Amino acid sequence: MYSEATTESSETTEPVTAMTGQTDSTSQGQKADTAEKNVKVKAENVRLWYGQAQALHDLNLNIYEREVTALIGPSGCGKSSFLRCLNRMNDLIPNVRIEGQITLDGEDIYDPDVDVVQLRSNVGMVFQKPNPFPKSIYENVAYAPRLHGIANSRRELDELVEHSLKRAGLWREVSDRLQTPGTALSGGQQQRLCIARAIAVNPEVILMDEPASSLDPLATATIEELIDELKDRYTIAIVTHNLQQAARVAGYTAFFHMGEIVEFNDTDTLFTNPREQKTEDYITGRYG
Ligand SMILES: Nc1ncnc2c1ncn2[C@@H]1O[C@H](COP(=O)(O)OP(=O)(O)OP(=O)(O)O)[C@@H](O)[C@H]1O
Ligand SMILES: [Mg+2]
Repeated sequence: MYSEATTESSETTEPVTAMTGQTDSTSQGQKADTAEKNVKVKAENVRLWYGQAQALHDLNLNIYEREVTALIGPSGCGKSSFLRCLNRMNDLIPNVRIEGQITLDGEDIYDPDVDVVQLRSNVGMVFQKPNPFPKSIYENVAYAPRLHGIANSRRELDELVEHSLKRAGLWREVSDRLQTPGTALSGGQQQRLCIARAIAVNPEVILMDEPASSLDPLATATIEELIDELKDRYTIAIVTHNLQQAARVAGYTAFFHMGEIVEFNDTDTLFTNPREQKTEDYITGRYG
């Protein structure tokens, strides 16, 4: 029988102390109910260069366990670059240099002893454009668990595939055609298939880079509902250009601008009572 991840992090409880590096972290006006949260992913003084060009400047951010954190900001401000730091996807890009520290449950993910393949299944990623493998629906979900030895017998794999597709809200639509190609599904279904694929290897954190931006409003709503359900089990960071979407799905929001995090707060406060003029300009549509 396929068993759930039981990893609970209890080590890193600390108050919200966001996150700009420029502002006094005690005077940032977070609500009292956010005072004690488990920090799942902690980024400290993260700086990133592509060759000579610095794209991220001293970013600090706490991503809370079993919460949705939205990353918003104008195009080119570094949201995707930052997201890719969180599961070392930038390692795959030549000439990238990263400084600072990122921890997952208090462990440095850039430590030389870290198994990067394991890290990337623990911190899964869903991209803007759905990218199912050119394989059957079944194989899209079963491939990685088989590779990682998570499920070995055919029966275990069948159960895991069903479980993952159910959790991704896709099972009902595909249960009678698991052997058809994943690429034959609609865009919204493909995106849920990619979420099922990420879930199948038992991640704790799911990173999503504009997961609904290529989808129609109905498929977008389905993905948003799914994110809302997933946050009961997973820690989620989502990049979005859709501010309504951030307001709907995210408990916390970080506003990025020119490679810096200008402001981080619970989403309500950030949208209704931003501290920084730049945040206000952005959320009221004055630029970006
Ligand atoms: N592979 C790369 N090589 C060189 N420069 C890059 C690379 N990826 C991103 N950049 C640069 O880093 C900066 C931040 O880009 P990034 O893609 O992180 O922004 P973003 O906030 O995700 O933008 P968008 O909202 O358009 O997706 C930009 O100036 C971009 O040109
Ligand atoms: Mg991007």
